[in-house]
Amino acid sequence: MRFVVCGKPLLVSRHEAIEPRSDGFFTIHTTQRMSDEKTRPLVIEARALRKCFGAFTAVEDISFSVARGEIFGLLGPNGAGKTTAIRMIYGFSPLTSGSMRVFGQDIHDGWRNIRSRIGVCQQENTLDPDLSVEQNLLVFAGYFALSRKTAVQRTHELLAYFALEHKKEAKVGELSGGMIRRLMLARILINDPELVILDEPTTGLDPQSRHQVWDKLKELRDRGLTILLTTHYMEEASWLCDRLLIVDRGRVLVEGAPQDLIQAHVGDSIIEVDQPEPALRDFIAAQDLAHEDFGGRIIIYSGQRPELERIIREDYCAHTCTFRNGTLEDVFLRLTGRGLRE
Ligand SMILES: Nc1ncnc2c1ncn2[C@@H]1O[C@H](COP(=O)(O)OP(=O)(O)OP(=O)(O)O)[C@@H](O)[C@H]1O
Ligand SMILES: [Mg+2]
Repeated sequence: MRFVVCGKPLLVSRHEAIEPRSDGFFTIHTTQRMSDEKTRPLVIEARALRKCFGAFTAVEDISFSVARGEIFGLLGPNGAGKTTAIRMIYGFSPLTSGSMRVFGQDIHDGWRNIRSRIGVCQQENTLDPDLSVEQNLLVFAGYFALSRKTAVQRTHELLAYFALEHKKEAKVGELSGGMIRRLMLARILINDPELVILDEPTTGLDPQSRHQVWDKLKELRDRGLTILLTTHYMEEASWLCDRLLIVDRGRVLVEGAPQDLIQAHVGDSIIEVDQPEPALRDFIAAQDLAHEDFGGRIIIYSGQRPELERIIREDYCAHTCTFRNGTLEDVFLRLTGRGLRE
């Protein structure tokens, strides 16, 4: 993977080497993203994670692993246990049982070393409202063993990278929601982490800001950063995640690459029929088609059977029929149901 950056290299991490070019530009060589995924070392190894709050079990025997340079997603309805699970990765919440290794070290033994190599963006805004944008980064840099010079240089690189330079004097309360999220992302990168953990990084952002964050996260992943995130946006998970886990009520439902999960659980083709005729139900039963029936609406997981799609279109679509591709949202709803949580 190569990046050519105009003018000067921004945010060159420890995973990259800069090669100056004769035209005054730079080529950045990424050294960490390996072509063979199987040879990548594991950054996170969670085994049978369990977290109990009194008699209540919020996380129940969750296991997963994340390889270096991967974007890994943790998905699930409200209260599924996502935040609780990821808090165990960065040591915020002790494990009731199970084991957690990060960078090959048990979190109990290697905590100090692990903490210095990760960045955590919590679900809620944890910026200091009394400080300016720039001060938030500089003060945070003070928690790591960075020289003043490095802290200042990195702060300016990050403000440029997240398009916040023009707001560096502003207080946090004067920022828009999108700017706050970008500043939180900038802050967790101050110590050039190898792993970042993002709890709902784009909640509340408009589509422009969300896409901008996605682009940045992909760029960072392509430079060798490992990213674990939670999200309620299925489009985000499909777009960003190399692999993901869907959890519900503290338990793992499925794990896999987004496209593989779509293929396995809902298929390529979906037909939604509003106000279905009774005869359609008979047809679905006779053809043994996978479907969900909500009374006024039927969702048919028609898979790769174009001949059946044609029959449904011609014979059973007196009212509205929608023919569309299967999505991760279909997988999520099919596996976790449609009832409200919490
Ligand atoms: N400190 C705590 N004490 C008691 N119960 C807790 C505590 N923290 C979380 N829980 C409970 O554990 C469950 C999982 O909560 P968690 O915050 O992990 O869910 P989540 O998947 O992150 O949800 P959301 O999508 O709403 O952020 C919930 O039922 C929650 O009420
Ligand atoms: Mg949460």
